[in-house]
Amino acid sequence: MVIGFIGAGSMAAAMARGWRDSSDSHRLVFCDAGSGRAETLAGDLGGEAVGSIEALVERAELVVLAVKPAALEQVAPELVGARLVLSVLGATSLGRLREKLGDTPVIRLMANLGVAARAGVICHSGAEVPAPRLSEPALDALAEIATLFAISEEQLDAATAVTACSPAYFARLAGALVDAATGLGIEPQLAARLVGLTAHGSGELLLDRPAAALALAVASPGGSTEAGLAALDAAGFDVAIAAAVEASIERMGQ
Ligand SMILES: NC(=O)c1ccc[n+]([C@@H]2O[C@H](COP(=O)([O-])OP(=O)(O)OC[C@H]3O[C@@H](n4cnc5c(N)ncnc54)[C@H](OP(=O)(O)O)[C@@H]3O)[C@@H](O)[C@H]2O)c1
Repeated sequence: MVIGFIGAGSMAAAMARGWRDSSDSHRLVFCDAGSGRAETLAGDLGGEAVGSIEALVERAELVVLAVKPAALEQVAPELVGARLVLSVLGATSLGRLREKLGDTPVIRLMANLGVAARAGVICHSGAEVPAPRLSEPALDALAEIATLFAISEEQLDAATAVTACSPAYFARLAGALVDAATGLGIEPQLAARLVGLTAHGSGELLLDRPAAALALAVASPGGSTEAGLAALDAAGFDVAIAAAVEASIERMGQ
């Protein structure tokens, strides 16, 4: 499938990397606003950079719209003729997308950077509107890089806060653990590896059990993990995470 990316930033790079690793049959085409990131990405991933949105739309069977939401107004008129647009724009409703894109079929996605490792989470809405001959191959392609969830528009902001934003929260937690380990004398590279692998294993375990059950399984009564969890509680860990989610949702509404 020829997949075109309007925008060559973090999200476009992550999705493109996932597709590059998923199948030899995808051809990846990129454009940017002039920074040269499209050229670099095409060089890194074996795709092609084109000089205009028009050229990209002409080529692509699937157009991933991966610009910042503020750029929608500017790029929308150039998307006329696109076969199907997948918008990853944060906090940009289907209503607004349809208003700007007119008759061009569009599906709204909320993806996270796990797509780069073909372990992403993608929530989508609006896939029932474009013809199945368009939406089905698009969803199949997305399923190569993520687990998909069809959810209502009303839930997309909440889903964004806990899936699209949260890799940064997990990263902060991992970073804090690495700092703690290096503070205790473990060499930084080893600390990062230990923490990364622990995060990976914990993530696997969390797929089939509640978070509280995992915490309980680790924290034997009176033990060191229990002491650590009590220190987290005293420092307001859960309150801080809830505040982060709330702040993200508030920003999306602005
Ligand atoms: N990053 C994430 O984890 C994440 C998660 C969920 C959703 N999203 C959404 O994904 C979208 C992209 O985010 P990002 O983090 O990838 O942003 P980014 O790194 O800032 O990249 C934005 C890209 O858009 C390009 N662009 C802007 N105006 C353009 C135009 N007129 N024509 C062609 N390209 C244009 C920029 O080109 P230049 O390189 O030339 O500046 C840049 O390559 C956003 O809407 C965001 O809400 C991101």
